[in-house]
Amino acid sequence: MAFSFRGRSIKKVGVIGSGQIGPDIALHFVKALHSFDVSVVVVDIALDALEKGKSKLFKKIDKGGQTGAFKPDEVDGMKNHIIFTSDYNELKGADLVVEAATEDLPLKKRIFNQVESLVSQDAILTSNSSHLEPERIFDELKFKGRSLCTHYFFPAERNPAIEIIPGKGTASETTEFTMRFYEKIGKIPIKVGSRYGYAVDPVFEGLLLACVQCVDTGLGDTKQVDYVASKALGLTVGPFTAHNLTGGNPITAHGLSEMHERLNTWFRVPDCLKELVESKSNWVVPGRGEKIEVSPEKEQQIADELMGAYFAIVCDMLDANIITTSDFDLLISVALDMKPPFSFMNSIGMNKAMELVENFAKKYPSMPVSKKLREQAASGKPWEILDVLFEKKGDIGVITIRRPKSLNALNSKVFKELTNYCDIVRNDPEIKAVVVTGFGAKAFVAGADIKEMAGLTEPTQGERFARIGQIASAELEKLGKPVVAALNGFALGGGCELAMCCTARVALKGLKFFAGQPEVNLGLIPGMGGTQRLPRITGFERASEMIRTAKPISSSQALQFGLIDEEVEGDVLERAIELAQDIVSGRVTLKRMEMGPVPNSPDKLPDVDIGHLSRAIDALAVRAILEGGKMTLEDGLKNEAHLFGQCWTTEDNRIGLKNFVEKGAKSKAEFVHR
Ligand code: CAA
Repeated sequence: MAFSFRGRSIKKVGVIGSGQIGPDIALHFVKALHSFDVSVVVVDIALDALEKGKSKLFKKIDKGGQTGAFKPDEVDGMKNHIIFTSDYNELKGADLVVEAATEDLPLKKRIFNQVESLVSQDAILTSNSSHLEPERIFDELKFKGRSLCTHYFFPAERNPAIEIIPGKGTASETTEFTMRFYEKIGKIPIKVGSRYGYAVDPVFEGLLLACVQCVDTGLGDTKQVDYVASKALGLTVGPFTAHNLTGGNPITAHGLSEMHERLNTWFRVPDCLKELVESKSNWVVPGRGEKIEVSPEKEQQIADELMGAYFAIVCDMLDANIITTSDFDLLISVALDMKPPFSFMNSIGMNKAMELVENFAKKYPSMPVSKKLREQAASGKPWEILDVLFEKKGDIGVITIRRPKSLNALNSKVFKELTNYCDIVRNDPEIKAVVVTGFGAKAFVAGADIKEMAGLTEPTQGERFARIGQIASAELEKLGKPVVAALNGFALGGGCELAMCCTARVALKGLKFFAGQPEVNLGLIPGMGGTQRLPRITGFERASEMIRTAKPISSSQALQFGLIDEEVEGDVLERAIELAQDIVSGRVTLKRMEMGPVPNSPDKLPDVDIGHLSRAIDALAVRAILEGGKMTLEDGLKNEAHLFGQCWTTEDNRIGLKNFVEKGAKSKAEFVHR
């Protein structure tokens, strides 16, 4: 067996380096791939590093087994698929090799020269560098097209962020495959242009320097600055603490010195950092739970200076054109778990952001004031940060909903962005069809955004929310061009409803928990057309059971019930694009949904056991289904939205939504049937 995806087959992955990060990278691969019988080989010439790396990795696997994160067969499966060796020959036959051994450029080159002689010419070679441009690392390779940088973040097995940095010589197929492959194995890959330090490290390392400057200019000591930084920038721990925890001082010192040469002269290695690296000591930071006193005036000064530095650094990268605002926000919030910079600037206002950067640049004139920031501030508009992405692949427009932290849940912002893309597609004669998909390996869309709905208090607000969702999703139905839903994971609630607006639906094969209308768990009924389109697609009996019991169905049941057109092995997006092309060319024709009243629609639904679920909400769901069957789809939708709003007249609506927000999806709400 092997992991097959987009025409490539991965049977063996090599990780070079058993130091700080190599074993964690290996753990992520073995976790994601052992069930496909893929073996992971960790190579290091230092035997003690191998021993330490192996013991660290096995301890993590065992701990996962003890906490229940891994089942016993997974624990064994992972251990049986990983080897630690000092013999480079074990890399023979590897289809992907990640080097995570060194930041020493000549050594990296030597390693890759050796690796190239061991693997086939199309094996992908990546370097987990945190700074070095791929052009410099891979310039001596015979086959450069298969090489690129992949920058993981601490802890690499759990932190989903990864920067993907193609070089000038990287083939577009390699970049595309690597992006989709990492997404498929649960990472959040973000493509970044080739520049020293990529996107994240100038932020991580630059903020340490900005903190040192605050200390050097007498705004506070390291404890105070660390404390204010974590508060002002929304960090779990301040930059000094983060450097202590990750052992990052030497690499930051090296990075800052190179950035001085390669980015701008504001970056530099402060003397105190040099001393710390030489003496191998740590920063003095707040102890766990220690109360740090800072006067409000000093706190404001430190916060303003750090924000100025933060915004200046990220905007400079926009000028360098290596990343977009939307990608950068997502990357920073996931990789460093801090306030995403562009949303942060929007929240304080562009004029304020500009003022902070200008003040910072006045104090440190070697920091440039970004041209793009000036233009944005002058425009009077906030930064554009998109949760829905759009890309043209030939004559197919691909819409991707990307909110990985909420499993791509649909909120008002997503509805607006979807509507905008529908306008673009409608007005672009080159685009013949559309594919809609969700970002990541887990979810197409896990429903309408429950956290947004939990903030609503009035039936009219509920009705309005439903109408906005219905109108935005119906844009796909009325587009006049075929739309194929590429269902890469959960299609729940609003996600299933959005998919039903598409001309065709294909889903990943073998999903046990795939689609459903779980709204009644939340003291809600479906509000984006579920009570109208599901009966029209699957028949009233199945639809009513799914809606009234909230029970999800598998992808194979969805196929059997006619909810999807195909189950797909491999890349569901690729298949959806093919199907869209087949529909455009007339090679495939599909049945259209009944838009009028449903012939012979029932007056009564079969009894179902709704268990602990709310009888008050069930009554509204039954009304929406039965009344809608006798109406046109358009009228049925309006009626559904009205009844969705009526959920807010019940106590069970408050109980259900509060239960999700406070206790999560697994907790059962205690409904009172009123
Ligand atoms: N809205 C907002 N956030 C959501 C969400 C949603 N629909 N679904 C999942 N999330 C969030 C979770 O709250 C969680 O966030 P935190 O990490 O901040 O806690 C994150 O996504 C990951 O979710 P889980 O930890 O629950 O992941 P899991 O793998 O254990 O479970 C799941 C996945 C089965 C999809 C579960 O999240 C779930 O049941 N979600 C709710 C699905 C649902 O009820 N959808 C219907 C929404 S109502 C609707 O759509 C109304 C309408 O018709 C208009």
